[in-house]
Amino acid sequence: MKNFLSVHDAGNIDSLIETALNFKKNPLANQSLGKGKRIGLLFLNPSMRTRLSTQIAAQNLGMEAIVFNASQEGWSFEFEEGAIMNGTTAEHIKDAAPILGNYFDILGVRTFPSLKNREEDYSEKILNQFVKYSGIPVVSLESATVHPLQSLTDVITICEHLPIKNKTKAKVVLTWAPHVKPLPQCVANSFSEWINAWKHTDFVIANPKGYNLDKRFTKDAMITNDQEYALKDADFVYVKNWSNYEEYGKIISVEKDWMLSKEKLQITNNAKVMHCLPVRRNVELSDEILDGKNSIITEEAGNRVWAAQAVLSDILNGLP
Ligand code: CP
Repeated sequence: MKNFLSVHDAGNIDSLIETALNFKKNPLANQSLGKGKRIGLLFLNPSMRTRLSTQIAAQNLGMEAIVFNASQEGWSFEFEEGAIMNGTTAEHIKDAAPILGNYFDILGVRTFPSLKNREEDYSEKILNQFVKYSGIPVVSLESATVHPLQSLTDVITICEHLPIKNKTKAKVVLTWAPHVKPLPQCVANSFSEWINAWKHTDFVIANPKGYNLDKRFTKDAMITNDQEYALKDADFVYVKNWSNYEEYGKIISVEKDWMLSKEKLQITNNAKVMHCLPVRRNVELSDEILDGKNSIITEEAGNRVWAAQAVLSDILNGLP
């Protein structure tokens, strides 16, 4: 693997899951692989899990990890080609990224979408410039359209909870949930494309009318506006809010009754409940579900380390 920007860089997903689960059993099994190597983790947006789990993963592989909260501590980047920089931006990505490429062996970047310009966000304009100008492998720490480290974690977590005899039959439901502010489509897009590519489950997406995701990510998944119909016999329910893709970045209606409740969980096959976190309690998910026995959310977040470690080890194996 050269870069890790989406499922298209993952190669064999089952093999990546196996690597991750081996690291979970023995975190320091490959402690000398990253000796003398350095990863830069550059954040243009806030993070807790991605930042800490990727740092731990790098350290488990013997790498040095340096975090740079660029949006708070760095010069503001310019991404426009040919820009006359007489405004608020202070450093062009064409100047900054090659330096990061000089300092580090691998670069992780978090850059959220603007939610204002769909074409620009969906072209991954910012992340692609880090790839173009840094000259080193780039790992997405969540970009404008996808969150591949989260999605790899999600399939690892589902895999751990699949009854072997049922491995090809489990029903996975991605359900939209209410939120107080417009959120990116990244996690939902990414979860969809990973579950589609993994091919081990029956996949259903439930969202209110008008909230369909981009077909490039959902592909042939069954999409319904009837949440209760979707939840019937589900083995896994992945809860996530996303803002509107068509009326880009907007909340077109607040569907409070879409919050997953304990009653709705009765329709499922005693489903495990998942969420990428952070979660707005009693808006996206109720206390009773988050604190109940069906939630595997904390375990899911714990698996972020092993997903990151599997990806970094694969990239390190390809470095000179
Ligand atoms: N799920 C996730 O990416 O969490 P953070 O935003 O805290 O990194």
